[in-house]
Amino acid sequence: MPSRQKLIFAIVVLLIAMVTGAGALWLTRVGPGGSGEALIGGPFALTDQNGKRVTDQDFRGKYMLIFFGFTYCPDVCPSELQVMTAALDQLGPAGDKIQPVFITIDPERDTPDAMKLYVANFHPRMVGLTGSPDDIAAVAKAYRVYYAKAKASEGAAPGDYLMDHSTILYLMGPDGRFVKHFTYGTDVKTLTDGLRGVVQ
Ligand code: NI
Repeated sequence: MPSRQKLIFAIVVLLIAMVTGAGALWLTRVGPGGSGEALIGGPFALTDQNGKRVTDQDFRGKYMLIFFGFTYCPDVCPSELQVMTAALDQLGPAGDKIQPVFITIDPERDTPDAMKLYVANFHPRMVGLTGSPDDIAAVAKAYRVYYAKAKASEGAAPGDYLMDHSTILYLMGPDGRFVKHFTYGTDVKTLTDGLRGVVQ
């Protein structure tokens, strides 16, 4: 090929690469629904309620239904975990494709033992995950979860505090990618139908 043709060829190849790259980047960033939710989730390394180190890879092949919270939560967490449990029960055998996961945002108090006692109140297959403060910060960041220690009430003991936290329920696919979310307050029937629509 003469050098001029070579140059034009190279420019065309470069342009195609740029356009394709930009398109792929746009799709990843915006996601099919235009919501940016394709960016939710990612790798994590945490400790389960039996003290075993687990990563997101251990859950491949199953849907993960993930809620972030803390065992001392007076109302939001227990009621959401009850709704998750009831929905999975309603799904029957189809529910077996879904792994319910509770991730603490209060690693200071939520040790594996504390998580074990707590998750036993909910679905029998529920996994409770904790970790170091850094582990938890990393997974919360990946899932865009906000959490912070609430201002302690006057005269409260040092270990006596509440946590503010996001209350979104996430459904991740068997490949680990974000599928959909449910907002706090979604009732059992709506959640059951929403899950059935995906896993069946
Ligand atoms: Ni809570």
